[in-house]
Amino acid sequence: MCGIVGYTGWREAQVVLLNNLARLEYRGYDSCGLALRGSPLTIVKDAVRVAELAKTITPVKSTSGIGHTRWATHGPPCKINAHPHLDCTGSIAVVHNGVITNYEKLRKQLTEEGHKFISETDTEVISHLVEKYLKGNLEEAVNSALKVLEGSYAIIVIADNDPALVFARKDSPMILGIGEKEYFIASDVPALLEYTNRVIYLEDGDAGVVTPQGIKITHAGQPVTREENKIHWTADQAQKGGYEHYMLKEIHEQPSILRETISEYLSSQSSSDISSFYGNNKSVLMLACGTSYHAAMIGKYVTEKLLNTSVRLEMASEFNYLSRTPYFPLTIGITQSGETADTLKALRRAKEAHSMVMAITNVVGSTASRSSNYVLYTRAGPEISVAATKSFTAQLGALYWLALSQSSLSIPEILLHEFRHLPSKVQEVLDMEEVIKLSANKLAGYENVFFIGRGINYPVALEGALKLKEISYIHSEAYAAGEIKHGPFALLSNKTPVIAIVMRDNCHDAMLTTIKEIRARGSPVFAIVEDTDTAIVDMADYLIPVPSIMDIFSPFITSVVMQLLAYFTAKKRGCPIDFPRNLAKSVTVE
Ligand code: G6P
Repeated sequence: MCGIVGYTGWREAQVVLLNNLARLEYRGYDSCGLALRGSPLTIVKDAVRVAELAKTITPVKSTSGIGHTRWATHGPPCKINAHPHLDCTGSIAVVHNGVITNYEKLRKQLTEEGHKFISETDTEVISHLVEKYLKGNLEEAVNSALKVLEGSYAIIVIADNDPALVFARKDSPMILGIGEKEYFIASDVPALLEYTNRVIYLEDGDAGVVTPQGIKITHAGQPVTREENKIHWTADQAQKGGYEHYMLKEIHEQPSILRETISEYLSSQSSSDISSFYGNNKSVLMLACGTSYHAAMIGKYVTEKLLNTSVRLEMASEFNYLSRTPYFPLTIGITQSGETADTLKALRRAKEAHSMVMAITNVVGSTASRSSNYVLYTRAGPEISVAATKSFTAQLGALYWLALSQSSLSIPEILLHEFRHLPSKVQEVLDMEEVIKLSANKLAGYENVFFIGRGINYPVALEGALKLKEISYIHSEAYAAGEIKHGPFALLSNKTPVIAIVMRDNCHDAMLTTIKEIRARGSPVFAIVEDTDTAIVDMADYLIPVPSIMDIFSPFITSVVMQLLAYFTAKKRGCPIDFPRNLAKSVTVE
């Protein structure tokens, strides 16, 4: 959701803050703003992207400030609702990520006390509360305000007459970055990489102050120390590296990510860390949202196939509203960011029900990683494009490895061989980019598209439809191929193409039958097929050939076709691929 940044040190704060905000835009890009210390504070904000805001700012000599990039929750995107939010005097400014759930009550009370509100946001109550409690010391005033706030927050507060940036976090991510006589605050690591790789992950409930002289962290009012960590991601990894979009770059990184991930997993160290996870347990609960949920669907299939273990899979957002929490001895939460509010809530619920929890996440130090009993890291590196691609493939790598490594029997050599060769198979798909682009150029002319798959490729069809709708804005739906005749058939016509994943597995014949039925209703068929499969040649309007692969591993390559199809379709339609409307990469509110 929203991204927040803070800086204090010796550089020009506005340059640092704008750079860092630009790297956090994947968290929200409805509007953005800055507050720079000086007397008075300089406030610049608008419902524009960071690059546009940068053009409107005249240089300010300030070495301390805060910034925000917004994903609207309370009030539409507009200048007034953009952060930072000020108190009545204009001398206190606040940036906030999260949701203040009791803001209406607080706003009413503060209004009765004479405070004037100008925005529709929940955040504005924070600046007025700080104003109310300010008796000379900003940190004390913020601490008093925190006592009455309910909900989730990562906040940074600045005032025109106080040298400190005051911060606090509760159920929203926040890290501190350490430089030479300079300190950074941010929602996430990519924001800081240009300046430092030394970070502190704040714990839930931490608060404190940074000044150019140092950091003070407190928890429940008591000073605490938090460990400093070295980040191994580089600033380059979070850049476009010559590609037109982050999404395309991230799609192309998949072979190398898989190579690294697989070699790490195959090393004894990593496997010993998770070797005791399953023990004698024969049932596991998996929880996830969005693309991670699709990875988990494939993970369920693979786990049930390779291990004698039954998997119950729940969307985290639905699990949280089950009338009774089911007991499972083991729970796996799949979340690339490690910060998705619904997934974190569901994992907490599972833990409270005495389940042993494992997080599969891409972010070291994320809330999911710190609140779980076990962590299996994916090694996708920073993913900036809102549409998840490489993080999904890395999640598949982790889920497959978890199933393979927990097998009580030794892993058949043939499976290991195919697992090791996944990077080159994925590369072969990337080498077919031009062929996929031809199909995408055709798809770009339609407004409604169906995706179908069966068995292990049904989740891939779901992921394909999700990718296409999120970045090209084409209405797309996915069905298990057998289900398409139970309703969706009514919509088939020459205006509704169907994208069919037809691998040579146990579903092959049934897929061919479904395709014949679809063709009979006039829908153009785009078929993803193994390049040696001749059975389908005359049945599809457009063929996308992929290398042959052992059935169980086919999602690694079919999902890359889905990513490229979505990418080139969106490109043909001129969509803002990396930052699709209304979406955010890290959904930290329920
Ligand atoms: C957002 C992102 C998706 C992601 C989902 C779950 O909707 O745009 O790409 O799949 O959140 O995120 P998580 O970090 O939990 O995997």
